[in-house]
Amino acid sequence: MSRVLWWTVPLALAGMVSGLSAAQGQSGPAANGEQKANAGANAQQDRSSRSPDEALFVEKCAMCHRRMGMGTVLLARRMNPALAPLEARTDLTVDYIKTVARQGMGNMPPVRRGELSDAQLERIAAYLAKSKQ
Ligand code: HEC
Repeated sequence: MSRVLWWTVPLALAGMVSGLSAAQGQSGPAANGEQKANAGANAQQDRSSRSPDEALFVEKCAMCHRRMGMGTVLLARRMNPALAPLEARTDLTVDYIKTVARQGMGNMPPVRRGELSDAQLERIAAYLAKSKQ
């Protein structure tokens, strides 16, 4: 048994080390550079904002409602995909946005007051309704 062990240990270690460096490679600078070059296929989501209200939208809604978000993907199935991101819409009213946010819709879970106050929702709804005019 000890004869078997003494040579399997370095082999196992070598396996772990190469597994580790492969994992590190994925988050390293080379992989990030590749992602930018490849923006269409593998892009990270745009989290930028130019106003506090937009920043709130980014924090609370954008993971689903900017590009590649579940909301955008699902809405694109039943409408012009170019208008699937909420920020591209021209038909959403403040009241409609607030109602959907509180009640949920299809695969969108209701957003509770504990996560998003009425005042915050008001700001997001105004931001989304304004970006249309
Ligand atoms: C967990 C993901 C998720 C989050 C977070 C989310 N939504 Fe949604 N939202 C969806 C999905 C999915 C749909 C499409 C529902 C369907 O058609 O089944 C949707 C639909 C909507 C619609 C309806 C659009 C239409 O054409 O009728 C509005 C308005 C909306 N969301 C607003 C918001 C706002 C405002 C926030 C942030 C406070 C938010 N959502 C956060 C997933 C999300």
